[in-house]
Amino acid sequence: MENEFDYFYDFVYRELNINLRYYKDTQMQRRILSVMRKSGATNMVEYSKLINKDEKIRKEFIDQVTINVTEFFRNKDMFEQLENLIVKELSLKFSKLKIWSAACSNGSEPYSICIMLDRNNLLNKAEILATDIDNEMLTKAKKGIYKESELKGLDDSQKKKYFTKEGEDYRISDIFSKKVIFKKHDLLLDKYEKDCHLIICRNVTIYFKPDVKDEVYKKFSESLVSGGLLFIGATEGIYNPREFGLKKVATCIYEKM
Ligand SMILES: C[S@@+](CC[C@H](N)C(=O)[O-])C[C@H]1O[C@@H](n2cnc3c(N)ncnc32)[C@H](O)[C@@H]1O
Repeated sequence: MENEFDYFYDFVYRELNINLRYYKDTQMQRRILSVMRKSGATNMVEYSKLINKDEKIRKEFIDQVTINVTEFFRNKDMFEQLENLIVKELSLKFSKLKIWSAACSNGSEPYSICIMLDRNNLLNKAEILATDIDNEMLTKAKKGIYKESELKGLDDSQKKKYFTKEGEDYRISDIFSKKVIFKKHDLLLDKYEKDCHLIICRNVTIYFKPDVKDEVYKKFSESLVSGGLLFIGATEGIYNPREFGLKKVATCIYEKM
C-alpha cells in the first residue's frame, strides 16, 4: 500500500501540482481511500487514470483532499477579540492595513473581515487579499453567492445590510466582492506576501505535518510587519511563538515582535 501511495502522491504532484507529502499521512490516506472507493476504482493506478480522464472525479478528489468547510465568523468569540485588537491597536498603529486571508475557502472568512472593518469605518484603510489552493473555491468566493445554510454565522440585520437576495440565494455586496482580491496560492509551494499587517490563516495547518506547519508559521512571521497580527484557528495554538518571532496577544492571535 505504501508504494501505491508513493505512486499516487507523485501522480498528484505531477498532474495537479499539489504536494500531498506535506500533509499528515494517516488522515490524508484515509480521505484518499474513501474518495477513491466512491469513484469505483479499486486501486490507485486505476484511480489516477480516472482523475485524468473524468473532470467530475478530479473535482471530487480535489475537494476531498483540500477540505473546504468554512463559515462566516467561525468561532465568533475569537473574531470579537480580533475586532477589538484591530480597532484599539492595529488601526491606530498603521495608516494602511494590508490584510491576507490565506486558505480562504469560499470567501466567508475574508468577507467576515470586510463586515468587521465596515462596521468600524475601517474598510477604506484596508487592502484585502484572499488566497486558496482550490480554484473552484476561489471562483465561488469571487461570485460571493451563498445559500441560506452557509450564512449561519450572520444575523438577519447583517444579511440584509450586506447581501442581496437572489431567489433562494444571497449575493454579497459588490463593495466587498470588488474590495477583496482573490488569487490562487499554495501555502506549501508558492512565495509569500510581504508587509502584511494582518494574516488570517485558520483551519488548514492542522492538516500539515509538524515540521511543515512550523515552516508555514516561520514564513507568515516573515510576511508580517513588526506589530502585525497573525490570527489562527481555534485548535491550532502555537506552543513556541517566540521561535517564530511572535508573541501571543489573545487566544489564537499572535503579534510579530
Ligand atoms: C477547512 S478550510 C478553512 C477555511 C477557512 N480558513 C476557515 O477557517 O473557515 C481549509 C482550506 O485550505 C485550503 N488549502 C488546503 N491546502 C492548502 C494549501 N497547501 N495552500 C493553500 N490553501 C490550502 C483548502 O482548499 C480549503 O479551502
